[in-house]
Amino acid sequence: MAERRPILEFENVTVSFAGAPALDNLSFLVREGDSRIILGAAGSGKSVLMKTALGLLKPDRGRVKVFGEDTSHLSETQWFAVRRKLGVLFQEGGLFDSLTIEENVAYPLENNRVNRPSSEEIFERTKEALEFVELGETLDKVPSELSGGMRRRVGIARAMVTNPTLTLYDSPTAGLDPITSYTIVALIAKERCVHNTTTMIATHRYQDGHFLANYTYNDKTHRIEPVNRDGGDAGTRFWVLRSGHFAFEGTQSELEETRDPYVRNFMKPRMKTYGKQE
Ligand SMILES: Nc1ncnc2c1ncn2[C@@H]1O[C@H](COP(=O)(O)OP(=O)(O)O)[C@@H](O)[C@H]1O
Ligand SMILES: [Mg+2]
Repeated sequence: MAERRPILEFENVTVSFAGAPALDNLSFLVREGDSRIILGAAGSGKSVLMKTALGLLKPDRGRVKVFGEDTSHLSETQWFAVRRKLGVLFQEGGLFDSLTIEENVAYPLENNRVNRPSSEEIFERTKEALEFVELGETLDKVPSELSGGMRRRVGIARAMVTNPTLTLYDSPTAGLDPITSYTIVALIAKERCVHNTTTMIATHRYQDGHFLANYTYNDKTHRIEPVNRDGGDAGTRFWVLRSGHFAFEGTQSELEETRDPYVRNFMKPRMKTYGKQE
């Protein structure tokens, strides 16, 4: 089988603030169809990693390659073209309070400076994305009229409206109750399956990673089902970030067998919570 194409690669990337590294000589390669679960305590570098992948922060050292292309010499205009293929749900959702739900979701299409779709197409795709997250009836509302979980779903609709190749979800379940969190990760699994999107998710919840590593959306039955292991690994790997470097990198079974006390301590309380929810 041909190697899947590289989507995002960091080569010895360091990003510092006032001399303190938030990412410390970080290297990884994500290929098409992969899923990555980025676990890590607050301040470990999860958001900085995502912003660096999007070109919103520039590395002090090292290289970021998107779709195999070195981005270090890209102009801001060239970055716009790259970002069109990247979907992003920022931490806290980042919706514009003064815009309607329709305008919020349409925003990445309206602001496509290179190749803006027609107004009819923008409307159709916005509606489709909102229907995907089961919020087709909220077009004319504003964010303050929706619950926290619904706003997060609007954020997912906005992240996927451009049909991105890679979607970055920064702490999509932060601040949500367990049941709403479940609906959010289930939508992420659905998006990953239906659009065949490479997916990276930063989270402090171990059970989000467990879900994405073990469950998938079945396009035919329209249900969430266990991953078929006959097809091999689902391509979901876990990272544990600590002070801007990987304290762990591997599969979920490897993670659960690790003896590293930092990684174990980070994971164990989440496993208890997960057990209770089952
Ligand atoms: N804009 C910034 N200015 C200064 N320091 C920052 C900035 N953004 C992030 N940091 C620092 O970088 C580190 C990693 O932050 P972040 O990636 O946001 O953590 P998290 O894993 O919680 O998402 C933290 O120490 C944070 O204080
Ligand atoms: Mg963060």
